[in-house]
Amino acid sequence: MNAKPIVKWAGGKRQLIDKLIKYMPQMYNKYFEPFIGGGALLFELMPSVAVINDINQDLLAIYKCLANNENYKLMIDELEKHEKNHSEEYFYKVREEDRKPEFNDIPIWKRASRAIYLNKSCFNGLYRVNSKGYFNVPSAKKLKVKTYDVDNIKRLHNYFVKNDITVLEGDFVEAVASAEPGDFVYFDPPYDPFDDKESFTAYTKFNFTKEDQIRLATLYKELSNKGVSVMLSNHNTKFINELYAGFNVHVVKAKRMINSDSNGRGNVEEVIITNY
Ligand SMILES: C[S@@+](CC[C@H](N)C(=O)[O-])C[C@H]1O[C@@H](n2cnc3c(N)ncnc32)[C@H](O)[C@@H]1O
Repeated sequence: MNAKPIVKWAGGKRQLIDKLIKYMPQMYNKYFEPFIGGGALLFELMPSVAVINDINQDLLAIYKCLANNENYKLMIDELEKHEKNHSEEYFYKVREEDRKPEFNDIPIWKRASRAIYLNKSCFNGLYRVNSKGYFNVPSAKKLKVKTYDVDNIKRLHNYFVKNDITVLEGDFVEAVASAEPGDFVYFDPPYDPFDDKESFTAYTKFNFTKEDQIRLATLYKELSNKGVSVMLSNHNTKFINELYAGFNVHVVKAKRMINSDSNGRGNVEEVIITNY
């Protein structure tokens, strides 16, 4: 039985799931997702052997806790505590924690539950940091906050502990170093911005640049030459089409769900690019 993402994430792929499934290979060995974010496709498919990765430390803390019995229990207890203590003032107190130097040493279950709590109680359920890397989304001013769905989180915990799931934290290049012919890699990087619209890239204090998109396209070609099945999603921009010329480009329409400014809502064209 499949599961849903735990956190709402900018660029989350829930709404494109059917199309991603339509364009992915029917058979593959190991599953790789180097920009895991909210993990919409992974949790829909629940492959038994997978390598997942992201550069966002708060997000990775959640997946590491799901994969460990003790940290999982501590994370759930802490979520209960956050729900009980929730208020406008409490939200800002928890939000301020990453400004303190000792934040880097807090246990992983505290980091994970803070990330989930803020995601569920902040405006628009968005994860966004400022240039210093501090979480800066305001409160949604909710009177009550529900931080998790019991059945869904149990299902995810079971999935992580009962299968062969490797959770990595770092740059996308290292994440696919062990990919072999017959494996499947799905890349969902931060979007290349449309010229006329602002795009969301504030997942970490480092922006994802044009150079990063070029690095990714080079890696895509290397994996393709090696016999790995590769699928990538991005905005339908001229730059992306040039980078992936020669591969199969499928244009799909998507609704822009969350953005830093509400003017960005509406329909946008995305591409799903495959090498098979
Ligand atoms: C579009 S989101 C992925 C959304 C995801 N597919 C979902 O359904 O929620 C892009 C992700 O890339 C991560 N990221 C940014 N730069 C990265 C890098 N250099 N290496 C790995 N991950 C990176 C961000 O933290 C973010 O979670």
